[in-house]
Amino acid sequence: MPSASPAQRATAAFQAAFHTDPAFTARAPGRVNLLGEHVDYNAGWVLPAAIDRAAYVAAGPAAEDGLVEIVAPDLGAQVSFRLADLHNKLDSLGAELPRWAWYPAGVAWALAEQGLAVTGLRAVLASDVPVGAGLSSSAAVEVAFATAWQHLGGWRLPALEMARLCQRAENQYVGVNSGLMDQFASACGQAGRLLRLDCRTLAWQAVPLPPGVSIVVADTTLRRELGQSAYNQRRAECEEAVRGLRAALHDESIQALRDVSPADFNAHAAALEPVVARRARHVVEECARTEAAVGLLQAGRVADFGALMNACHASLRDLYEVSGPELDAMASAAQALPGCYGARLTGAGFGGCTVNLVASEAVAAFVPALAAAYHGATGLTAEIYVCQAAAGAGLLPPTE
Ligand code: GLA
Repeated sequence: MPSASPAQRATAAFQAAFHTDPAFTARAPGRVNLLGEHVDYNAGWVLPAAIDRAAYVAAGPAAEDGLVEIVAPDLGAQVSFRLADLHNKLDSLGAELPRWAWYPAGVAWALAEQGLAVTGLRAVLASDVPVGAGLSSSAAVEVAFATAWQHLGGWRLPALEMARLCQRAENQYVGVNSGLMDQFASACGQAGRLLRLDCRTLAWQAVPLPPGVSIVVADTTLRRELGQSAYNQRRAECEEAVRGLRAALHDESIQALRDVSPADFNAHAAALEPVVARRARHVVEECARTEAAVGLLQAGRVADFGALMNACHASLRDLYEVSGPELDAMASAAQALPGCYGARLTGAGFGGCTVNLVASEAVAAFVPALAAAYHGATGLTAEIYVCQAAAGAGLLPPTE
């Protein structure tokens, strides 16, 4: 029997838990990032796509005013909390909220802080975005709940605003200092397109994938541990680099690493601590790569674009130091295969997935060859799939 889709699982679990049908189901996708890694919080450019894996929230009105009840069958967990207790992260019995519930609770908190009507609800969360794999499972959960609360609250926010409020939930409620990229891609995704976001001005455009090119995601199956503290540490190192370069260049207009050209960086890198200089070099060069990337895609220069992806992986490995043996094995195995334009780790790093740009006619041979090479190098069994760029968050049509 084919296994049920996450939307079907959510509906069935809703009926089982609450003895009624959900009123609607909200969906918000995960994302894969092609270029511009660890640059969103440095005000640079990113190039993600929403993917055809998503978090689903089957939802209906609350049993009791201000009460939020959430069942998460994938986690074998459930929680209930009152909106009045959001600020102190307590459940309805006064115990500490489990960590997975911080994401929906944080979204409710951020929406309420913004003055939007947030009501109690009953919901089931099911997702096929793997957790800790660098595909933004948490942003998908946040944006799916924000979409559900938007529908119940009867208000409507532009997708980018929705993304910013979800980022605020993650930064201020969950405590991860992430940038805007993940929530942006989940909220604003477009089918068949990459999204180019300027993380300073928040201007963005959708860029079609060139014909004959496929995105393949390869999961090392190694899960990110301790990613959060290392992530926050990288961010702090970037801020230290900004202070150092601003002083060395005597230029108060430098507010983020995006403001430093590769030439200026090279002239003044010696003013920074060696570790901080390595982090900053990655960001400065990655900004330049991502700025060049869209023009290459539009000119059909896919091989040149792929070379930038390969350079990005080397930089994340050697300068930003967020790769690891499994991600390196997966990226280099892919880079050696026919039809592969570029391969690199995607997302924060420390485990998770690589993203591969592959000539569509080579994909059928690429997938098993990569799995075999990765198994040979690590003894691990990869999960590899061709990924479609998908639309951003919304409600499922009532029949689904
Ligand atoms: C995580 C964060 C994003 C971004 C990436 C790295 O996914 O949530 O904001 O910083 O890491 O590019």
